[in-house]
Amino acid sequence: MNNFQYFNPVRIVFGEGQIKELSNLVPNNARVLITYGGGSAQRTGTLDEVKDALNAEGSKREVFEFGGIEPNPEFTTLMKAADMVNENNVDFILAVGGGSVIDGSKFVALVSHLTEEDSPSSNKVSREKAWDALTSFTKGIDSAIDLGAVLTIPATGSEMNSGGVINYSERQAKLPFGNPLTYPKFSILDPTKTLTLPERQVMNGVADAFVHVIEQYLTYPVNAKVQDAFAESLLKILITEGKAVKANPDDLEVRKNIMWTATMALNGLIGAGVPQDWTTHMIGHELTSLHSIDHARTLTIVLPSLMRELKVSKKDKLLQYAQNVWNISTDTAQDEDAIIEEAIVRTENFFKDLGLPISLADANLDESAIDPIIKQLEAHGMTKLGEHKANDLEVSRRILQRAA
Ligand code: NZQ
Ligand code: ZN
Repeated sequence: MNNFQYFNPVRIVFGEGQIKELSNLVPNNARVLITYGGGSAQRTGTLDEVKDALNAEGSKREVFEFGGIEPNPEFTTLMKAADMVNENNVDFILAVGGGSVIDGSKFVALVSHLTEEDSPSSNKVSREKAWDALTSFTKGIDSAIDLGAVLTIPATGSEMNSGGVINYSERQAKLPFGNPLTYPKFSILDPTKTLTLPERQVMNGVADAFVHVIEQYLTYPVNAKVQDAFAESLLKILITEGKAVKANPDDLEVRKNIMWTATMALNGLIGAGVPQDWTTHMIGHELTSLHSIDHARTLTIVLPSLMRELKVSKKDKLLQYAQNVWNISTDTAQDEDAIIEEAIVRTENFFKDLGLPISLADANLDESAIDPIIKQLEAHGMTKLGEHKANDLEVSRRILQRAA
């Protein structure tokens, strides 16, 4: 196991009916900007529930709203939210939604103070400074507005981590960022809020969480027994509960376990002290940026082919994955290649059972889609990916050719 520091300050408030806790969690005299997406928060009544809690008896809060944060949150939209933060002296941002709203709100929290010196009112955020912040992973930012979250879709783990991903369509970029200042002060995880999700989004969430675990597990052994055992458990829960929720979408107990598993998949715990890959995600981001494919679906397209392309460097963990997650016997009589291929096929079948694509063709793309993706990877500096930093553009190209 490698050296590590583990720190996660997020208070999780889990369970049915917990949105009312907002009246105790958000400072009583805060100037709160509620951020949300394209309409589900209003339609499902969650936004009203949030506002009722914030305006509870005795509240001195001023509450503002900013809606319309897109799936794969757009930089240009978020700049308007950041201007609004300044215009209203907002000192607390409350994200109501999924990874897109939470990531977008984290970014707003980080860049809203980057105003233009020479604009008549200093409320306007400098788009250039904000873009520079994003392209430098927001590493240099040393102040942020406090943030809380009400999670409505279990998938990304954004509710309990300090990262995010921002889309900038005009620049054909979808870029990750991370800054410890964006750990939410709290996140409310009410599983009943996920019952209104379309099946597509439920399946996306299971797959995204699954691949998050894989990115932090399927590398090479460092004798990290806790992280490995924990990761394998999360994978097995996602396999069983992913199938269960497809069969019984209204089973709240299944929803509870999926919600908590998705959060634990990317809150830093299983990634502490172990090598991490993230190649699947970096290639996936370009697929979303170029073809607007749902984030999770880009991952299920890439992962099986990445497993095959990198089966030599990942052999030990692929065999461990086969045995401990898929219960495939790895006794010496068996041919290791056959065991690994069986584990990859089981992974593909799991994704297919959830109705997810496992090839570019499943997304109506062919080999002609590969060159532009490779160009984007190069433009975004994604040229030495993976746990050994050895996945160059040629490796990414071969992964995509396998996925064609
Ligand atoms: O926009 P609204 O109307 O709210 O609809 C959303 C959206 O269309 C809908 N939805 C959310 N909750 C709902 C609901 N519909 C009905 N009932 C509900 N309760 O679902 C759609 C997808 O929402 P989105 O937030 O985009 O989904 P997800 O949580 O999967 O987030 C995806 C984004 O997160 C980023 C991805 O790149 C993508 O931009 N990621 C963030 C990560 C992080 N912060 O750690 C890591 C991930 O790997 C990922 O990259
Ligand atoms: Zn993801």
